[in-house]
Parts: sequence; structure tokens; C-alpha cells
Amino acid sequence: MELNIAVLPGDGIGVEVVAAAMRVLDAVAHKAGHKINAVYGDIGWAAIDKHGDALPAATRDICNRSQAILFGAVGLPDRDKTLPQAKRPERVALLELRKGLFANLRHVVLPAGLANRCPLKNELIARGIDIMIIRELTGGLYYGQPQGVTGAAPHRSAVDTLAYSEHEIRRILRVGFETARKRRKRLLSVDKANILATSQLWREIATDMAKENPDIRLEHMYVDNASMQLLRRPSEFDVIVTENTFGDILSDEASMLAGSIGRVPSACLGEPDAKGHTAVPFYEPIHGSAPDIAGQNKANPVGTILTLAMMLTYTFNLTHEAKAIEQATFEVLNAGQVVTGDLGGSATCSQMADAIIAALKHVK
Ligand code: IPM
Ligand code: MG
Repeated sequence: MELNIAVLPGDGIGVEVVAAAMRVLDAVAHKAGHKINAVYGDIGWAAIDKHGDALPAATRDICNRSQAILFGAVGLPDRDKTLPQAKRPERVALLELRKGLFANLRHVVLPAGLANRCPLKNELIARGIDIMIIRELTGGLYYGQPQGVTGAAPHRSAVDTLAYSEHEIRRILRVGFETARKRRKRLLSVDKANILATSQLWREIATDMAKENPDIRLEHMYVDNASMQLLRRPSEFDVIVTENTFGDILSDEASMLAGSIGRVPSACLGEPDAKGHTAVPFYEPIHGSAPDIAGQNKANPVGTILTLAMMLTYTFNLTHEAKAIEQATFEVLNAGQVVTGDLGGSATCSQMADAIIAALKHVK
């Protein structure tokens, strides 16, 4: 099989984690006889410096001609400050490429061997952690209008708009129910229905949809309570579905349950629009560009490596190859010999990739 992938390393540690992950992908593809057609594109500050644009037309073209996009990270806080918010790489590049991809699956798993790296007490995590967070990605505060700062100091005011249509809520909840069906048949919908109108509508629709999905046990939780319960009884969480901002925050919190934010992969998926067009699926680790450690071969590539496993599963339906990557990665993490700095070790980014490639050799 041929896999046409747009590869956008971007800024900071994006460059090294993507390079490491692509080596793992090449190893898996080689073993299984697949051909990877990877076309690299500039994005973020790397693109502004070369082309004056965080998402140049050439990069868009590469993405449009691909079956999937692998993305590293964009943004460099020191330099971002020099641009108005609307021109920053996060908005111009990241939020642009995510358009149409409303379902962001963020998978948080704590391998048994990393139990000591999880900041929670062992008794709280004894039953393991495996949480799939489904974050709505194209609505809510990120895109709602009006948005902006108006007036002159000291009388400025600012507004962000949290808006959701019934259609947007239904389609992300549908992903929630479908995902729950493939796992433990439990779905937790997280909202703030005691205060927010969008959440009241969300909860009403979720309750309604539960009647059409009687095999799934739906529960609701307020987001503030959910953020506390995640630390109190993390093993009880399975599939969480929630709106954009809540999902952004809860997934960073949950990533620490997996040991480090550098470990968590994600997939951004869409569905055909009214004209039958589906946006190119986008795959990214949930961490950012981490400029403080960039270029030093220190970053943890595991989030990006597992992101490629999600790509193999969701875009290419190569579940066997995806499982091989996951198995090799978890084997290395469990063995605890090769540990990157974020988890308290001193292995480099490329040593981590080497260890996973070595483990792949004996994974069936
Ligand atoms: C993430 C990030 C982004 C987001 C930023 C960089 C815009 O935090 O992917 O979680 O908020 O979606
Ligand atoms: Mg985030």
C-alpha cells in the first residue's frame, strides 16, 4: 500500500519529534512492505522566515494532495508577541488546518512501567489509566464571533463568543457514542450546564441521543468536578466527550496521568460536508513547541510516534501496523531503560526512537 502523507514539523521541538517519529514509521512500513510518500512542508515560524506566511500556499497544496497530515508544533512565544493575535501561527496555521476536523481524539494511557512517573499516589492508579478524550475542535470560543479587543486603554474591552449549533453538538456526541461502543460502553459528557446555555443544549441533546444508544451508559459531569475527579479516581474514566476549551484544558491535565504531556497523541477527524468534501485528517501530539528544550535532542517523541499509530488506524486502516508501534512503544516505556527528560531520565529523542525501532524487530 502507498501512504501519501504531508509532514509539517513546524517550530521548536516539532522538528525533532517529527524526525524521530518518521523513522519509526519508515521501519514499520519497511517491515510490512508499504511505501511512504512523505512530502515535507513549511509551517509556523519556519514558514514565516522563509515565505513570510505561517501557512504558505505551497504547504496548503501539499496538504490537499495528501491523505493525512502529520503536524509537529507551531509557535515561539518570544516571537509570537511581535505579531497581532490574528496573525500568529496558532491561528493562521493550526486553527486553519483543523477546519472541518471537528473530532479531536486524545488518548491518555499510563503504561504500568511508568506508574512511578505519574504524580498521583500508586493506590490511585493501581487499576491503570486508559482515557479517550473526545474534544470538539471547530466550535466554541476558538472560532465564535464576535471575538476581539475594542476601544482604547484604559477603557478597552474584550469579547470571545461561546456558540454551538445543535448540528455541531450532535455530530461530536455521535463520535462519543461510537467510540464508547468500541470500548467499555460508557460515555461521560462533560459540560457546565449549571451556568452555560451551550452546555444546557449540549446536555439536553446528549440525554436525547442516549435513548437511541441504549447499549451505552451515558453520564454527565460538570467540568470543574471532572477536573477534580480525574485526579481522585482516574481509573474510572473511559470515554470523555466535551466542547473545545474544556477538552483543551482537561486533556493537558489528564496528560500528566500518563506521566507527561510529551506522551499523548491525537487525531483530528472530520466527516464529509454537504458537498461530500472531507478535510484532510490531521494528526498532532498534544504538546507545543517547547522552545526551552528545542534543538537539543531532548524532547520526548512518544506522543508523535503514537500519533502516527493513530494515523495508521484511522486514515489507513492499518491496525496491525498501528498495534505494532503501540506495542513496541509501550514495551520500551515499561522496561524503563530508555527514559526521556520529561519523565526524569536522560535519554535523547533519537535514542527513544532507536529503542522503539529495535523493539519493533521482535513485535509480531
Ligand atoms: C492544543 C493547543 C492548541 C489549542 C493551541 C496551540 C492553539 O493547546 O492543541 O491543545 O488550544 O488547541
Ligand atoms: Mg492545549
